[in-house]
Amino acid sequence: MRVGVLTGGGDCPGLNAVIRAVVRKGVQEYGHDFVGYRDGWRGPLEGRSVRLGIPAVRGILPRGGTVLGSSRTNPLKVENGIRRIKETLARQEVEALITIGGEDTLGVAARLSDEYGVPCVGVPKTIDNDLSATDYTFGFNTAVGIATEAIDRLHTTAESHMRVLVVEVMGRHAGWIALHSGLAGGANVILIPEQRFDIEQVCAWVTSRFRASYAPIVVVAEGAMPKDGDMVLKDESLDPYGHVRLSGVGEWLAREIEKRTGKEARTTVLGHVQRGGTPSAFDRWLATRFGLHAIDAVHEGDFGTMVALRGTDIVRVPLAEATARLKTVDPTLYAEVGVFFG
Ligand code: F6P
Repeated sequence: MRVGVLTGGGDCPGLNAVIRAVVRKGVQEYGHDFVGYRDGWRGPLEGRSVRLGIPAVRGILPRGGTVLGSSRTNPLKVENGIRRIKETLARQEVEALITIGGEDTLGVAARLSDEYGVPCVGVPKTIDNDLSATDYTFGFNTAVGIATEAIDRLHTTAESHMRVLVVEVMGRHAGWIALHSGLAGGANVILIPEQRFDIEQVCAWVTSRFRASYAPIVVVAEGAMPKDGDMVLKDESLDPYGHVRLSGVGEWLAREIEKRTGKEARTTVLGHVQRGGTPSAFDRWLATRFGLHAIDAVHEGDFGTMVALRGTDIVRVPLAEATARLKTVDPTLYAEVGVFFG
């Protein structure tokens, strides 16, 4: 059987480990051959692909990013998108697609499989860990490790100057990275998108931390929002290209904290550093297992499914169910870490 593989959405450490496992097991154990589509759904839309054999996946296990490239192209929003994808697959005699992606990419795979008869098996990826059907997605552990190391480093510089250090981490809709890295790094305040924060309360925690003669670290997810009042993310000054500067919640927090507490504050936005570079051992392990189970599902013709981690087992769940809702931080879990605030 000829199998297509694509990686869609934001890149994530571990994508190459999945591709390698799929190809290694598919070739060695089942005798399948592989076509790798370039840049997510854009590949099958435009007929851009590469042959994926064992030599092509040699040495890619520890490499970050994706050797296939990625994009956020959604074929359901492109004219004749479904027809063009079906034509590419038919022309190249590709009988199944392994789609490695987050909510958007897998949502497309679910519809292609269920409504348009394109046989897809999904593999969940996102550093945000916000896919509900799986306990963990690969990439998350690496991102948390990077953020934790940054917080560890920021403690010493914060203490040397007795400043507030605000660390903005990724997570538009879910605060998993903030929660895990904040707890692991001993942050004094953790703010997540699931719960609007009270800026007065944040300042009270900051002040109480200074009273204990320590410099506070505030970890904030990029999607966190204050309870009331407007968060003005626009700066009147212009950047060197003449554009109005737009800052994130991290910058806004530092300005508000300075204004309200009189303490000096600085912001570090970790951004794409959290997504780049080599995957952690855990993510290589998880991504590899996902890849091995995904090619099993293809081999057995179990389409419209996604591989998922439940406890220590890899299971299969319907793709449609897997993308139906986001996994967000439970208020009880958030309340549990609140004991460390201030
Ligand atoms: O979904 C993963 C993610 O890393 C989010 O945490 C972040 O908001 C977003 O991607 C950034 O996307 P882009 O790389 O397209 O700016």
